[in-house]
Amino acid sequence: MPDTPRLGVVAADRIQRLIRHRPDAVLGFATGSSPIAVYEELALRVAARDLDLTEARGFALDEYIGLAPDDPQSYASFIRERVERPLGMREGTVRVPDGTAADPRAGGDDFEAAICDAGGIDLQILGLGANGHVGFNEPGSSLGSRTRVKTLAARTRADNARFFDHPELVPRLCITQGLATISEARTILVVATGAAKARAVAAVTEGPVTSMCPGSVLQHHPRVTLVVDEAAASGLALIDYHRSVQIHSC
Ligand code: GLP
Repeated sequence: MPDTPRLGVVAADRIQRLIRHRPDAVLGFATGSSPIAVYEELALRVAARDLDLTEARGFALDEYIGLAPDDPQSYASFIRERVERPLGMREGTVRVPDGTAADPRAGGDDFEAAICDAGGIDLQILGLGANGHVGFNEPGSSLGSRTRVKTLAARTRADNARFFDHPELVPRLCITQGLATISEARTILVVATGAAKARAVAAVTEGPVTSMCPGSVLQHHPRVTLVVDEAAASGLALIDYHRSVQIHSC
């Protein structure tokens, strides 16, 4: 298990390898705090001219309903400030679901079509909610779901309240890629850190595949890498096995 600062390096290495053989790769970007170390490491490499993402394109996972793209708490702002700008990608290259569309249902279908037109997502970066959600697919989400409007779980609203001036300001609805959408990415990189994620990491990795733990759907995916620190890995029953796999593969 890499320590927390090393997580970004491990994940960035994987992304850099992809870009080396496919400069115009389609990347899926998660928001939230977990992938920030990855984006910062990528930004360092871009600044050092070791990595060029000018031809890469991308899609965000989700957005709050009701937040305009220029709202500082919107995921559109996150993508602009934390992804496009520091990674040298043109503004608008990473498409974010529209949280202010007059018809969000049609917006979901358009988003799906755009992913399809781009040829699908080559590598999806994912965070993990403490309740096992990926994107904003809350427990109970259909394993076959596509991009659509969802109601946020109370736990998710409470967890994300730290980004807002007042807990009541956290939106109640979101638009998110579905579990089937996410599962179609060719490779998936899940990043999770800290003890608060330990239960979710264990449930996603070793628990049953169930809509009650949406991230568990990834057990059906052939190419998923879980990048976790010691604290996030602490609930894994097979921790010794996972450690030995890492040692032998280094
Ligand atoms: C948020 C986002 C997810 C993110 C998750 C974990 O609600 N919608 O895409 O992965 O929750 O967030 P964090 O990394 O801040 O713990």
